[in-house]
Amino acid sequence: MEFPEQPTSPERVFSGVQSTGNLHLGNYLGAIVKFVELQNNYDCLYCVVDLHAITVPQDPIALRNNTREIAAAFIACGIDPKKNIIFNQSQVPEHAELAWVLNCVARIGWLNRMTQFKDKAGKDRENASMGLLDYPVLMAADILLYRATHVPVGEDQKQHLELARDIAQKFNNDFAQSIVRNGYDGGVFFPLPEPLISGPATRVMSLRDGSKKMSKSDASEYSRINLSDDADQIAQKIRKAKTDPEPLPSEEKGLEARPEANNLVGIFAALSGRAKSEVLKEYGGANFSTFKNALVDLSVAKLSPITAQMRRIREDDGYIDQVLRDGSDRARAIARENMNAVKDIVGFLR
Ligand code: TYM
Repeated sequence: MEFPEQPTSPERVFSGVQSTGNLHLGNYLGAIVKFVELQNNYDCLYCVVDLHAITVPQDPIALRNNTREIAAAFIACGIDPKKNIIFNQSQVPEHAELAWVLNCVARIGWLNRMTQFKDKAGKDRENASMGLLDYPVLMAADILLYRATHVPVGEDQKQHLELARDIAQKFNNDFAQSIVRNGYDGGVFFPLPEPLISGPATRVMSLRDGSKKMSKSDASEYSRINLSDDADQIAQKIRKAKTDPEPLPSEEKGLEARPEANNLVGIFAALSGRAKSEVLKEYGGANFSTFKNALVDLSVAKLSPITAQMRRIREDDGYIDQVLRDGSDRARAIARENMNAVKDIVGFLR
């Protein structure tokens, strides 16, 4: 029997952001800034993950609004929707379809170890949605559906990325013979996706508590800078940010037991495209009021144009919907082809 020879898959970037409100500085510095950089060197797909959003209850009107808000943020931050694929997950049904197949590959024990599930489900785990437990399998499906090779994310997604690699590996092993029969070189169908987690702001912390991650769901507005904040709000939040009584150290080592100082210096470094050590060379010995003034100026200079652009884009929801429809069509063309291959490998008739 002649086996078809399949082309090896290209290097490809995939990442996603949930369509829940309050896109913040952590999302921007930990993920979206990287998305923008990567578009110069890779084929990139950037997805608004609305299927993930409904793992906790969402108001339908707010959900639609938030999906558009994230898409607008992608474009306002500099992602070119023509060069890259910007889309929302629910318009490409193959995400859910592949997730089902991968559910049968992933092990319950693997999912039970996910720290994000434990955090989000809290004490009342029995009452969490099935989707919340299954969340990382859908995330693996997002990535593997496009046979993506690189995934830019913040530090908090590292464990989910490791799981995605484990699932890819187990699929490749479980179906090794069938993968070879279907013409894939070396019996590998899914590449093991490489997490891209680097720079001074992979884990931006709350402005109120340097031991807690900056998050969309924190009840305190003062804990985070939202991409929708105006200059006054940014200034107020930074001025109120928790600090300690010491002046800034001159070297990075001096930040070790000072989580709030470390966080603000990390934010400064990431916004200015410098290393923390360089920032400390300039501000070592300065007190926080001086440093905070400089951080306010820098943050406003960097974020205000994005906020303004987001507002302009949001005035034309028809345009955003068109970008997402067009992106979904382009994503679907890749998704369908890979899903057909998965069906052949697994043994489904089509
Ligand atoms: P989400 O929507 O919670 O966050 C979007 C991105 O922002 C990063 N991030 C942070 N980075 C630094 N500091 C912080 N405080 C901070 N908070 C959030 C996240 O790491 C993420 O990169 N599960 C994902 C969405 C997802 C996905 C995917 C990502 C679904 N499918 C496939 C990559 C590939 C999430 O909830 O991100």
